[in-house]
Amino acid sequence: MKMLESFSINEFQKDLIEWFEKEQRDLPWRQDQDPYKVWVSEIMLQQTRVDTVIPYFENFVSKFPTIEVLAKAEEEKVLKAWEGLGYYSRVRNLHAAVKEVAQTYEGKVPNTVEKISSLKGVGPYTTGAILSIAYGIPEPAVDGNVMRVLSRILSVWDDIAKPKTRQLFEDIVREIISKENPSAFNQALMELGALICVPGNPACLLCPVREHCKAFAEGVQKELPVKSKKKAPTALSMAAVVLQNEEGRFLIHKRPEKGLLANLWEFPNHETISGLQAPKEQLGEFLKSDYKIDAKIGQAFTTIQHVFSHLIWNITVFEGEIESSVKETDSLNLVSLKDLEKYTFPVSHQKILKSFLSR
Ligand code: ADE
Repeated sequence: MKMLESFSINEFQKDLIEWFEKEQRDLPWRQDQDPYKVWVSEIMLQQTRVDTVIPYFENFVSKFPTIEVLAKAEEEKVLKAWEGLGYYSRVRNLHAAVKEVAQTYEGKVPNTVEKISSLKGVGPYTTGAILSIAYGIPEPAVDGNVMRVLSRILSVWDDIAKPKTRQLFEDIVREIISKENPSAFNQALMELGALICVPGNPACLLCPVREHCKAFAEGVQKELPVKSKKKAPTALSMAAVVLQNEEGRFLIHKRPEKGLLANLWEFPNHETISGLQAPKEQLGEFLKSDYKIDAKIGQAFTTIQHVFSHLIWNITVFEGEIESSVKETDSLNLVSLKDLEKYTFPVSHQKILKSFLSR
């Protein structure tokens, strides 16, 4: 490989791994090599920061300590343990995949690329992470952080937003990964990306592999990686309402089983279109047409913004009272304040409740 001419693979491995063994953070998923725990941690760590993940990981593996326990757990309980982490399709896929492992592989996470990568939600990154960390198999585990690190070390100027570029880096890792200690090698690249070779302003003076770094030698470390901008997220105006009946019970709705925040519960809400009636009236119409409910909608008491990767919700939140009967269904419940905690809400709707209770 042309990029690797004059690159000392053995010296690089040695410097990188020695640093990792000395400086690695003490993280709960590093206590043992249980493939199940490695798997859970790697799924949580996708799109979520280490500090956020730690308490969720500890809670999750104490509630569901093994494949067997998770495979048998109720969907609602599993979703509840993920509440607040976001990207809930991750946990639905994990649950489905763990059930498959329980059934098809007698509860043992398989150790081949073919079998692992056919599990739901397990892409090339997670496949490589599990195989290398849990089983010591030299497979690449390339995510955005690893691409940033390697693009600098080898001065690679390909756009890391393009799928083809990830393959290029996987090919590179296959060449340079330590065959003796692939687990430490892959984790060391992640750790370097988290602690030293950070976005923006990397701490090159502290870097254990600075001598091997082409970008540092050329003074271009801040210009790498090259990453084209994805399009800006669409902003939606929404109105939501915290509706109570005369007994003080709250009306909540379960989202559809497919799509954004699938199967999570929410307060009634609807996109509002500017230039039509006022948001409050649009919300009232929505409650009538979709839920067959008459309501008296009162004041707006807060606005909440929630940013997804592709979408921004700007939610104006009203209080209100139900003035008709409510026909409860699988996806429409009237729930006491105390029982609300049994339902899983997206963070935006947790904030709505919190704000309602302290208004
Ligand atoms: N980011 C992704 N995987 C990680 C791991 N195993 N340790 C620390 N940070 C990570």
